[in-house]
Amino acid sequence: MTGSGAVTGPQLLERERELAVLAAVVDRARQGEGGVVLITGEAGVGKTSLVRRFLADADGVRSRVGLAEDLVAARTLGPLREMFPDVRDLHEPGAALAAVEAEARAGPGPLALVVDDAHLADAATFEVLRSLGRRAETLPLVLVLAYRPDEVGADHPMRRALGVLVGAHVHRLELHGLSEGAVAALAERSGLDPARLAGLGGNPFYLTEVLAAPDSDLPGAVRDAIVGRVHGLPAPTRDLLEMLALVPRDADLGLFDGLAADVTASLERAERSGLVRVTEGRVAFRHDIARRALEASLPQSRRVHLHRRILGAFEDRRADPAVLLHHAVLASEDDAVARHAPEAARSAAHGDAHREAVTICGLALRRPDLLTHAEQAELHGIAARALYAAGRLPDAARSANRAVAIWERRDPSDPQYGAALLTSARMQTMVARPDSSLAQVRRALEVLEPAGASPLLATAHEMLANLQSIAGDSESAMGSAERARAMAVDLGERLIAARSDMHLGIALAGLGEDAEALSTLRRSVETLALLDAPEPYARATGAMAVTLVWWGRVAEALEWLDLTDRVASEHGFDLLRLHGVAIRAHAHTLQGRWDAAEAALRPLLQVDLGAAINPLPLAFLGRILLRRGDADGDRLVDEAWPLALATGQVRRIAPVAAIRTERAWLRRDPGAVRSLGEHALDVAAQGHLRYLGGEVLRYLRRAGDDVEVFPGCPEGFAAGIRGDHAASAAAWEEAGNPYECALELAESDDPAIAGRGVTILDRLGARATADRVRQDLRVRGVGPVPRRSAPARATTALGLTPRQHEILGLVARGLTSPEIADCLYLSRRTVDNHVADVLAALGVPSRRDAVATFRRHEQSARTLGSAEPGSE
Ligand SMILES: Nc1ncnc2c1ncn2[C@@H]1O[C@H](COP(=O)(O)OP(=O)(O)O)[C@@H](O)[C@H]1O
Ligand SMILES: [Mg+2]
Repeated sequence: MTGSGAVTGPQLLERERELAVLAAVVDRARQGEGGVVLITGEAGVGKTSLVRRFLADADGVRSRVGLAEDLVAARTLGPLREMFPDVRDLHEPGAALAAVEAEARAGPGPLALVVDDAHLADAATFEVLRSLGRRAETLPLVLVLAYRPDEVGADHPMRRALGVLVGAHVHRLELHGLSEGAVAALAERSGLDPARLAGLGGNPFYLTEVLAAPDSDLPGAVRDAIVGRVHGLPAPTRDLLEMLALVPRDADLGLFDGLAADVTASLERAERSGLVRVTEGRVAFRHDIARRALEASLPQSRRVHLHRRILGAFEDRRADPAVLLHHAVLASEDDAVARHAPEAARSAAHGDAHREAVTICGLALRRPDLLTHAEQAELHGIAARALYAAGRLPDAARSANRAVAIWERRDPSDPQYGAALLTSARMQTMVARPDSSLAQVRRALEVLEPAGASPLLATAHEMLANLQSIAGDSESAMGSAERARAMAVDLGERLIAARSDMHLGIALAGLGEDAEALSTLRRSVETLALLDAPEPYARATGAMAVTLVWWGRVAEALEWLDLTDRVASEHGFDLLRLHGVAIRAHAHTLQGRWDAAEAALRPLLQVDLGAAINPLPLAFLGRILLRRGDADGDRLVDEAWPLALATGQVRRIAPVAAIRTERAWLRRDPGAVRSLGEHALDVAAQGHLRYLGGEVLRYLRRAGDDVEVFPGCPEGFAAGIRGDHAASAAAWEEAGNPYECALELAESDDPAIAGRGVTILDRLGARATADRVRQDLRVRGVGPVPRRSAPARATTALGLTPRQHEILGLVARGLTSPEIADCLYLSRRTVDNHVADVLAALGVPSRRDAVATFRRHEQSARTLGSAEPGSE
């Protein structure tokens, strides 16, 4: 099916618009600005026909076509390997991507790359399609994906691949059945009563079948008729067709030699029956609906028997392990499953086809007694990594532990035992079991050390460094990272050396060696970029951002987060990306962009980011809500605290401890500020987390403690602690941190200055804080300060902020607060607060009045032709 060939076929009905879209995309692609065309619709609606027609008509367009097939676990990069049979070593997404790009650029003319039945493809293929989808815009490439949307459920990997396919270069062609008019015309041409075709929904496949043999008029009846036609054929032909029905796509003609008697004659008869089509030495049912109908009609025992015969034939021709595994499973041949699964699993793992790897390992490990110990351990290891990549962390940790247990029982001196321990240790960190992680890394060191320097041993030292860092033992972490680095350099392992640099940088940051930490991290990032190692690169840029954020260097941190986000999004490193989203939200909180932070954090609460990351979004969102006086804030912070403690990580415990300290201050509980604050300070100091240290120290001061500023304390906190509120506020203004600035201004005895602080708090929507500060001012006799009012950052003609304007617009459209909250990813409470502010700003008593004002305004804006900024 490669090459556009001479498939011309009959004219298609009612597909002019779709063909025009495809032609237009081709025209742009000729200029080097390619595109993506997604063709969707039910089976038989005409997706494949549309693609064929398009390819036949497209002049000067080169094409490569791949078909995905319905196997128990899809072939790794199946459609792409089919498109590029000439490219060897097409075993992982990077190689496939390079092959497509090279072919697209080779010219002459643009390249049409078609994946038919794409919903059946493997995860590695989706990975490639995702990258291609983004790059098509700048290549002479038309990427065409035909698939059945009903097969693409919420957790289907294609969802994620297609989710990123947005933009003007992406076109969706939703195919529907033919119109009543077209159906009537068809019926008339064949002298048929159009009413006979009414129950077919205009589906061209069923229409074609009924027109050819007009004795049935419903899809089920058409399928029965197909099966009936097979039954009417001589036994050898029927036998052959039934076998073909169990081969998910097509078979080469030679497959049946030895499987059936008189193959040539049987094939000929089958072809003449019109049920199958023979092209280029391969035979297939005319349509998959017919194949499935026949398959479904076979008794289970017959299917098992036929799968056994097919398996034998495919084994003789050394077919792809995924194909062998498919027939082995459906033949219920456990021995054969055990024989083929390891190879299929390796291929899936090598290609990053995670979903398939998980399926295959699961199938094979149902009968561990048929596998060697080494195979069992290997499959558990593959499953662990694939589950991890799929974000199923607890399952991943369990699988990794099983691999460890198998080696332990069998041969604890095997370096593979060491490797299994390291894999498992990584998973243990992710599920927040730092103690077992540490124990496993130490055990790995014992196992690996006797054999001397090796990449695995260097990796073990690197991981030890990581664990020591997160536990706050930066001194030891530095030693381990240096050992790892030196060994890696000796071995010429540049990647491990660069990763060790990252851990060295983190350790240096933990020791308070700022300049050296930054230069080491930078060196790590640069080397990882050169080595084209996206995963550790995203990690290292993320580490840089996190380090800077905990020092309060927010603007720089945001720049590094952009890099993390770009690479993690492009490569689908979801956990890294979402961790970045959480850190970014925290940075935005420091900058006073609370709505943005809240909108980013809310969806994170719906995902399992792993026990090691989960506490962050809870705590970050909890803090915003606490300040806003939203009762949910308490719940979130209380939820975050034990989770943070369980991680054993300084960079998890310290932030939540600091938030708890702040809450105690908001609640006017100086005793709690003191006890919580001292602990928080300890943890923050352990990791030299200066911003947090300063923040907590400042609250201790507010609680009346006589505290001393530590070296490197952010200037805003230091000045505040010294009692120089003006200098402190100026420092915070300079740093772009309105919340801390407001708190310091509010300490002033000058009512005008204190009032400015209160106004800032109102503008941030920090109701709880503002209430507390107003009370303090009253008690101190400073006043008058502004009464609570609508925010001063009005920018729209109605005197509303863009956010308020947006929310009022939704109210006007009849949405309730919970609906608006859902739609904007805000809490209900926040929405209610916004609505209250809107009423105050408009000076009206009710939502209805606000909506009336809004409508009046819209009306006059329309007549004046003025545009209104409606969103942030
Ligand atoms: N627009 C059309 N007009 C007439 N016949 C069509 C049309 N689209 C498809 N067909 C016929 O319907 C059958 C099924 O179409 P196909 O492209 O294989 O569907 P799909 O790929 O969506 O399952 C084909 O035999 C084809 O000849
Ligand atoms: Mg099709």
